Amino acid sequence: MDRYGVFGNPIGHSKSPQIHALFAAQTGQALRYDPLLAPLEEFPAFARAFFESGQGANVTVPFKEQAYRLADQLTERARRAGAVNTLKKLADGRLLGDNTDGVGLVNDLRNAGVELAGRRVLLLGAGGAVRGVLEPLLAQRPAALLIANRTPAKAEQLAAEFAELGPISACSFADVPAPVDLIINGTSASLGGDVPPLADALIVPDRTFCYDMMYAAAPTAFCQWATARGARARDGLGMLVEQAAAAFELWRGVRPETAPVLAELRRQLAG
Ligand SMILES: NC(=O)c1ccc[n+]([C@@H]2O[C@H](COP(=O)([O-])OP(=O)(O)OC[C@H]3O[C@@H](n4cnc5c(N)ncnc54)[C@H](OP(=O)(O)O)[C@@H]3O)[C@@H](O)[C@H]2O)c1
Repeated sequence: MDRYGVFGNPIGHSKSPQIHALFAAQTGQALRYDPLLAPLEEFPAFARAFFESGQGANVTVPFKEQAYRLADQLTERARRAGAVNTLKKLADGRLLGDNTDGVGLVNDLRNAGVELAGRRVLLLGAGGAVRGVLEPLLAQRPAALLIANRTPAKAEQLAAEFAELGPISACSFADVPAPVDLIINGTSASLGGDVPPLADALIVPDRTFCYDMMYAAAPTAFCQWATARGARARDGLGMLVEQAAAAFELWRGVRPETAPVLAELRRQLAG
């Protein structure tokens, strides 16, 4: 049976084995997908050993940049992201590195009925998650993509690097020009129950949509902040399922249906 898995450290919390088992059952694909606890100091050797028999793997914290360096060939979006979340063994044994996080976000926004073309989009944060989604977001042709970060220099650096791909600019949390159509939280502030200090005027009730890349059983701090101001909000569980679906399609050539898998994950998370 073809072998797949997810590299991480720690890895016990990962929902990827469950998601891919649901995809495999749904599409009738016979495969095995395991959590793979890679040693912090020996990721390249561990990954190479897995690929002696394995066909593909996802990569999570803290190995995405190391997987980028491990890959023999990169997709354009992975090259831009500087990080790899999906590895595929090619017919000649070389490893292809892809990054499906951005397309996962774009597809989940589409599932939520959110239009990106021609819209003013505010992206919060300037870490690995934000870098990974910039190219796919700009490919949707927003009217403006603003990046705001606690450390403004990092946002400015990202805006400069991606400027050739579209109308991207950096600002601080305090001086985002209001209003915006969509706010995407790519900071890890929700982990500590915090929300970046944003002006209420950014939100137009019933028009502005807020998306938190983080997810939890209960609404995240950012989602609560948004709904309290009249915005619609969604957390990042759907992004997780969509990035997995894009990886599954890359490996197996079959596109799984994501809605029933997201519903099942949400049910389990709530329970
Ligand atoms: N749903 C999914 O599939 C998915 C995929 C990838 C990531 N994520 C989520 O995305 C989030 C970010 O991940 P990452 O890998 O980009 O992390 P990272 O590289 O460590 O970057 C963290 C970012 O959050 C900012 N930040 C941290 N604490 C903050 C606070 N209290 N207030 C304001 N800003 C704060 C940092 O600002 P400074 O630059 O000033 O330090 C930085 O921009 C995580 O919550 C992760 O779970 C979700």
